[in-house]
Amino acid sequence: MLFSSLQAGALTLPNRMLMAPLTRTRADAGHMPNALMAEYYAQRASAGLVITECTMVAPGTSAFNAEPGIYSQEQIEAWKQVTAAVHAKGGRIFMQIWHAGRAAHPAMNDGHENVSSSAISIDGEVHTPQGKLPNALPRELRLDEIPALVAAYAQGARNAIAAGFDGVEVHGANGYLIDQFLRDGANKRTDAYGGSLENRARFLFEVLDAVTAAIGADRVGLRLSPLNSYNSMIDSDPVALISFLAERLNSYKLAYLHVMRSDFFQAQKGDVMSPARAHYKGLLVGNMGYGLEESQQALAAGQLDAVAFGTGFLANPDLPARFKAGAALNAPDASTFYTPGAKGYTDYPTL
Ligand code: PHB
Repeated sequence: MLFSSLQAGALTLPNRMLMAPLTRTRADAGHMPNALMAEYYAQRASAGLVITECTMVAPGTSAFNAEPGIYSQEQIEAWKQVTAAVHAKGGRIFMQIWHAGRAAHPAMNDGHENVSSSAISIDGEVHTPQGKLPNALPRELRLDEIPALVAAYAQGARNAIAAGFDGVEVHGANGYLIDQFLRDGANKRTDAYGGSLENRARFLFEVLDAVTAAIGADRVGLRLSPLNSYNSMIDSDPVALISFLAERLNSYKLAYLHVMRSDFFQAQKGDVMSPARAHYKGLLVGNMGYGLEESQQALAAGQLDAVAFGTGFLANPDLPARFKAGAALNAPDASTFYTPGAKGYTDYPTL
């Protein structure tokens, strides 16, 4: 079933193997995409859908220093080489649109203050161009600032379409701004954006309203990670959260809902995929640790409609061909995940 086609909103995918978004920190200064990134994504064009690394919708929101942006005309122009290269190989590509919120350290953003749903910092330290620094305490967003943030996601989506992308994936996962509203360990607000599930989800649904109005719901996906503790995230009831969101998402008719089933650190455990499937009527994509056999089983059982592979595609540009042939896989080299240049990026061999 992995190799059967699938209608995902406006797109017909030739297979059900998505390339998961992966931060690779190869952008040029000024958060500019480049020719090396075009080569990397084009190498992986046999994915049913390529999803880019998280991409900044606004300046001053960098969390990794060398991630790309989609807020300037120069960036739009530079992304065109990426989308053209993927399309020339017969592929399809969504951009993951992203605001880091409290994870945007001022030392990475010319002193630009970081903001979040609440004034609560990520634990521990972060790598910055000035060395390792403690994570920065964010300022709690005022109500009057929220419309501009919502508008930034919509503009990012319009810019992505202008750059030739087939659609966007809204990044609602992994402890970044939207997730900082969703989960009650990060969101302690007492206004209309905090407290109940309805209130914590308000920012996400405002973003989805704006993004789908801008480019059409059939070109919009959403990624969620109710269990991931990365970026000091925790929620008192991840199953209630995913159930509520999955149910409410039905009315949006998105291209897909993309759910990370586990925690990067295995600290928070549970089953969020069954409630996602039970409540969500649209196309459900699972991610994290699925291999060939488990993917086929999950698809055959109707638990998922597609599977996203992260490190699988990172290390195997021709992952669908390898799965089809039952061939061995290249092992990902974690030491080059975030280093500059082609090494560990565009030099993984095909079959
Ligand atoms: C990471 O670089 O570790 C990273 C980036 C974005 C995510 C998750 C992890 O959504």
